[in-house]
Order: sequence, then C-alpha cells, then structure tokens
Amino acid sequence: MTLDEAILKRRSVRGFLPREVPEETIREVFELAQRAPSNCNIQPWISHVVSGESLKALGQKMVDAALAGVPHDPDFTADRKFPGVYRERQIDAAVKLYGAMGIERNDRPRREWAYRRNLQAFDAPHAVFVFMHGDFEEREAVDLGIYAQTLMLALTSRGIDSCAQGALSLYPTIIRDHLGLDATHRIIYGISFGYEDVAMPANATRVGRAPLDTSVVFHRGLRT
Ligand SMILES: Cc1cc2nc3c(=O)[nH]c(=O)nc-3n(C[C@H](O)[C@H](O)[C@H](O)COP(=O)(O)O)c2cc1C
Repeated sequence: MTLDEAILKRRSVRGFLPREVPEETIREVFELAQRAPSNCNIQPWISHVVSGESLKALGQKMVDAALAGVPHDPDFTADRKFPGVYRERQIDAAVKLYGAMGIERNDRPRREWAYRRNLQAFDAPHAVFVFMHGDFEEREAVDLGIYAQTLMLALTSRGIDSCAQGALSLYPTIIRDHLGLDATHRIIYGISFGYEDVAMPANATRVGRAPLDTSVVFHRGLRT
C-alpha cells in the first residue's frame, strides 16, 4: 500500500472482531510510530498497549463508572463547545454516525449506549492509552497528535483498523489505577485497534472533509 493509499483508506472503525493482532505486528507498528517527529525530539508519548482480559476489565470499570453517573475528570478539557463552522462539522459527523447506527437524535438511552461502547474500545482486542508527562501542555500535545496519525497509518498499511478516541481519556483516575501509573501521567486520547467487524452498523459511517480552499491559503507575492 502506498502512503497516499493508506491516508485515503484510514477511517475510524467503531466495531471490531475479537481476533487479535499478532504480537510481532503490534511491535512493528509501534517501532514505526517511534519515528514520529517531535519538538526537540523529546518524544513525549508514553504508550500503554492494553489487550485481552486487562482491556476488558478496564473497559468494564469505565462502563460501571458511567452507569453509576461518576463525573468525567479528564486531564485536559473535553467538553469545549465548538464555534461556528466547527460546530456544523461536529453535527454533520454525529448525524452521519448516529444515522448509520439508526439512532434518533432524541433517543437518549441508545445515544448513551453508543457512548459507553467507546469506553469498551468498541470491543477491540487492543487499545493504546497515550500519556504524556504532567508538566506538558499544548506543544507536546501536538507531538502526540503526530504520533497518533503515524501509528494509525502504520496500522492501516497492514490491514489493521483503528479509532482515535478522546472518550478513552475521560476517566483518567480509573485508567491510571488499572495500569499502576502515578498522577504525573496525563492522558489525552486512546486508540482502539484490531480488525473491522463489517456487520456493525456504525462502520458504515463515512464522513467527508471541507474543500481544500476553506482550510488552506497559499501565499506567494507580497500583500499590498
Ligand atoms: C484526537 C481524536 C479523538 C477522537 N475521539 C473520538 C471518540 O472519542 N469517539 C469516536 O467515536 N471517535 C473519535 N474520534 C474519531 C473522529 O470522530 C473521526 O476521526 C472524524 O469524524 C473523521 O472521521 P474518520 O476518522 O473516519 O476519517 C476522534 C478522533 C481524534 C483524532
């Protein structure tokens, strides 16, 4: 697969088969992701790859917390309201996802069920929880974002599906406890990965992108 093909093929998959990814393949993609660039080459990502029983148990703890109404306590703000066109794009993506799942806008129980599937990593056999040091902020978060896409493209090129998930960072205390990590580890996202279950309605979701000229401005001559 060429790089262009991998970029075009990658999409968020929200329903996985139980089949595990071979361990050597997992190591290979994480080796490749290590090549991601970062400011001053500090490589701020701290990745915890969780599989099997450990992932199931962690997912269940987070689902139980959600069902018990435990408030989210994310390390980084997660409930920001998007302005203008960004809100429109958010709504468009939600309409496409819930449309594919056949969930009506006001069907609160099924929307909450769909949210809780996030906490179970959409039944993926693996999820990586990506942390960075507690002193780090936006600039280091950029490095983590570049790392995420490098990792997802390496997965895609091997026929492995994934979904980046802010939702996997909403209960950091539970996650740190489960993994035996101290509070200097701050989490900003997780990525579930494995093989797509094509029978899951959510996986029929296809979102578009804004036309190039709405996002990119090309400059050459001097502005008068
Ligand atoms: C940092 C980040 C966090 C995300 N969090 C979630 C999430 O919590 N749950 C989810 O279903 N999708 C999540 N997504 C997936 C986006 O909704 C998805 O990337 C976007 O709609 C574009 O669709 P595509 O990935 O299929 O191209 C996240 C994506 C990124 C990059």
